[in-house]
Amino acid sequence: MKKMVDESKASRLVNCGMIILVTAAYKDKSTITPCAWYLPLSKKPPSVGVALAKSHFSSELIKKSQEFIINIPHWSLLEKVIVCGSVSGRQVDKFKEAHLTPQKAHSLVKTPKVDECVGNIECSLWDIKEVGDHYLFLGEVIYAEAEEDFFINDMWDTQRGDFIFHLGSRFFFKSSPSIEARK
Ligand SMILES: Cc1cc2nc3c(=O)[nH]c(=O)nc-3n(C[C@H](O)[C@H](O)[C@H](O)COP(=O)(O)O)c2cc1C
Repeated sequence: MKKMVDESKASRLVNCGMIILVTAAYKDKSTITPCAWYLPLSKKPPSVGVALAKSHFSSELIKKSQEFIINIPHWSLLEKVIVCGSVSGRQVDKFKEAHLTPQKAHSLVKTPKVDECVGNIECSLWDIKEVGDHYLFLGEVIYAEAEEDFFINDMWDTQRGDFIFHLGSRFFFKSSPSIEARK
């Protein structure tokens, strides 16, 4: 039997994906924002969307800089993810607070990426959609990279690397080994 789920919690039914860290920066300010609400959007051009609360510092910085970077953390960075999600970049320098290393982007994007992450997608802002209390930032992929030991045959190898998956609130689970479906 199914039970009714409050509509404000409906997002939790689909909120089980990999956690990403969005970096945003403008002039001398930067932030690292854990994000569970994001999606690949198009192959041509390669595009992704990230949904960030309008009130977040990251939203303010992305609107000003017109760019952002998606950083993919490994399970070993879970505590740092929590630190980055517990405070706004308006109050602290999250790179220092979480002991993460800012690294220059590969492309012309000026926003730093997180060196400790196993994958990074550098994006220039394509468009912004207002969706209630969030902005959906649409980014065109300018450059993407992944740790070669973990990204095999164009996909993550979950046998070699544990990724952080999010259920909601402070609940997470590790990726498990993949299976290949039969035709
Ligand atoms: C695991 C996790 C997932 C989160 N997912 C999102 C999200 O998808 N969208 C969002 O706006 N905030 C999300 N947050 C909240 C922000 O990361 C958090 O409020 C952050 O401190 C905002 O920082 P900023 O003000 O520097 O941008 C998440 C937090 C955690 C811990």
